[in-house]
Amino acid sequence: MCQGLEDPEVDIHSERFVKSLFSEMSRTYGVVNLLSSLGFAYFWRKLAVRALPKDSLQVCDLMTGGAECLTHMRTHFGKETRMELVDWCEDMCARARQTVRRYHGKQVEVINASALALPSQDASYDAVVSTFGLKTLSPDELLDFVREVKRVLKPGGSISLLEFSMPENAMVRFFFRLYVKFYVPFLGWLFLGESGQLPDAVAIHQGVWELQKGRPAV
Ligand SMILES: C[S@@+](CC[C@H](N)C(=O)[O-])C[C@H]1O[C@@H](n2cnc3c(N)ncnc32)[C@H](O)[C@@H]1O
Repeated sequence: MCQGLEDPEVDIHSERFVKSLFSEMSRTYGVVNLLSSLGFAYFWRKLAVRALPKDSLQVCDLMTGGAECLTHMRTHFGKETRMELVDWCEDMCARARQTVRRYHGKQVEVINASALALPSQDASYDAVVSTFGLKTLSPDELLDFVREVKRVLKPGGSISLLEFSMPENAMVRFFFRLYVKFYVPFLGWLFLGESGQLPDAVAIHQGVWELQKGRPAV
């Protein structure tokens, strides 16, 4: 179980917590994510990638996880497109490298770095995508994230962001809460072998609320 998960005092946005959470989940993240989204995550990512201009030559996937967007990026962008996949969790980067090898990605590089302090130069990318990572960032970090994306995007570049949101419809919200309270922890029990909560349930619950309470105005 991720250290400190059951401690209400734990800072769920701290680097230590987020890295250990995803390190622990790295082996099963892909399948848990597919099941926990009932398969929708695949299609949502596809839409997020397809929202970017097809002719982008330099593209970056921030908080890439196990490179879950890569299959869509390869289909959407041309063979000439160079793709950089960034994640700060070494175990997730290892998964991403496996995915890259499966796709024989010569034009793809996995970079172990923080999305808030990228090693990239200013104006490096035509397009940036980031899926399901925003909920792990605190409100202050969200601002840093937006500033960093603005720095590395070329003038006129594009960004596509994807994240869960709390449903506005009361009935849908009711079912979403049941889903977070029962279904996601059930998957945690199934895949992590713990009767406690799946770490992602905590992140979904708290992170999604925080995201909607304080949207950064940059
Ligand atoms: C919920 S996963 C999303 C993975 C993938 N993008 C997807 O669509 O499923 C969030 C990922 O963001 C990474 N992450 C969180 N905060 C980060 C940061 N500040 N810098 C780089 N990666 C970060 C985590 O290590 C984790 O792999």
